[in-house]
Amino acid sequence: MAPIRLGMIGGGNDAFIGGVHRIASRIDGRFQLVAGALSSTAEKSKASGAALGLAEDRCYGDFTEMAKREARLKEGVEAVAIVTPNHVHYPAAREFLKRGIHVICDKPLTSTLADAKKLVAAAEKSDALFVLTHNYTGYPMVRQAREMVRQGDIGTIRVVQVEYPQDWLTDAVEADGSKQAEWRTDPERSGAGGCVGDIGTHAYNLARFVTGLQLDSLAADLTSFVEGRRLDDNVHVMLRFEGGAKGMLWSSQVAPGNENGLRLRVYGDKGGLEWAQEDPNYLWFTPHGEPKRLLTRNGAGGLEANLSASRIPPGHPEGYLEGFANIYNEAADLIVAAREGKVPDHLLPTVRDGLEGVAFIDACVRSSKRDAAWVRL
Ligand SMILES: NC(=O)c1ccc[n+]([C@@H]2O[C@H](COP(=O)([O-])OP(=O)(O)OC[C@H]3O[C@@H](n4cnc5c(N)ncnc54)[C@H](O)[C@@H]3O)[C@@H](O)[C@H]2O)c1
Repeated sequence: MAPIRLGMIGGGNDAFIGGVHRIASRIDGRFQLVAGALSSTAEKSKASGAALGLAEDRCYGDFTEMAKREARLKEGVEAVAIVTPNHVHYPAAREFLKRGIHVICDKPLTSTLADAKKLVAAAEKSDALFVLTHNYTGYPMVRQAREMVRQGDIGTIRVVQVEYPQDWLTDAVEADGSKQAEWRTDPERSGAGGCVGDIGTHAYNLARFVTGLQLDSLAADLTSFVEGRRLDDNVHVMLRFEGGAKGMLWSSQVAPGNENGLRLRVYGDKGGLEWAQEDPNYLWFTPHGEPKRLLTRNGAGGLEANLSASRIPPGHPEGYLEGFANIYNEAADLIVAAREGKVPDHLLPTVRDGLEGVAFIDACVRSSKRDAAWVRL
């Protein structure tokens, strides 16, 4: 089958996640990048497209021009990846969705709650698909953990501990020309949350994906430790889930020694599960009263959810890129199925998960402003 024709918005020269999306989209050979509006100015966009070897007439000055022309082409893009700073997600996604072009968008869904609601309406009105790249949901051992919770291996969940510490914003690198730090610390482009939006949403989504628990309320304490920084760089959140489970979420970008320390621990009345992103091929399972067991990616006793998301034998590490590629591979399944007018059940994060993530940010900001009062989403 011919690869799906993919376009990209953002991801120009020197960008971070655009390159990851390009690799992930190619791992299973199911997408081909054919067009892009890759940067914030027409000149930079075209230069970035040329550097990637795109045809000159498919390197666009901006995403609106691209959406209009690609929708008219016989062999125009079938899907676009949106990998810009957060404030561009909604206006860019809207242009493609209204023309029936599928959207694969990075998180958080939008920079404001109002835009998130508008994007949900646009996605639900469109015939096109919308996939949000909460990529940690694509890891085989995360899928295994989710399945174990569902089949009752740890019993009724009591405690959820999730954290995502980093250290790259320990100093004011936004003032020293780090492009990535600059927009992430600017409320206009990032949204009302800094660290909580950037990585707290990943932690929250991971906890929700694995446990299936719905959040009832939260109490958040957001801090901006670096002088002059306009958004939080550290957040502590207490979580109360429906049904009585309790949780804590910590995310920080000022914790020296931490790179991408996403970690989830879930404890039920029959056992516990522990997973860490920096050692992603392993999952610790402790049936209560028994020794800890180390479960492995694609290894003995692996559940189908783990085995089917693995590519190579156990012991050869898979990681960030392969997990990301699982999202693309499953998005390709949906796009192919959508051609026949049927969309099967799937595990991919949706526009509604995105809305929940932005509502989580909003609730954290509201709570923190009220001295960490308990608030509902
Ligand atoms: N899923 C993940 O693990 C993950 C990791 C990093 C970033 N992200 C998300 O990806 C997005 C991009 O982050 P990044 O670190 O790659 O940022 P970045 O600053 O490295 O890249 C952003 C790119 O978007 C371009 N851009 C800006 N405005 C544009 C516009 N109007 N039209 C077209 N292009 C435009 C910039 O020129 C740049 O090329 C953010 O939403 C971020 O939250 C997700």
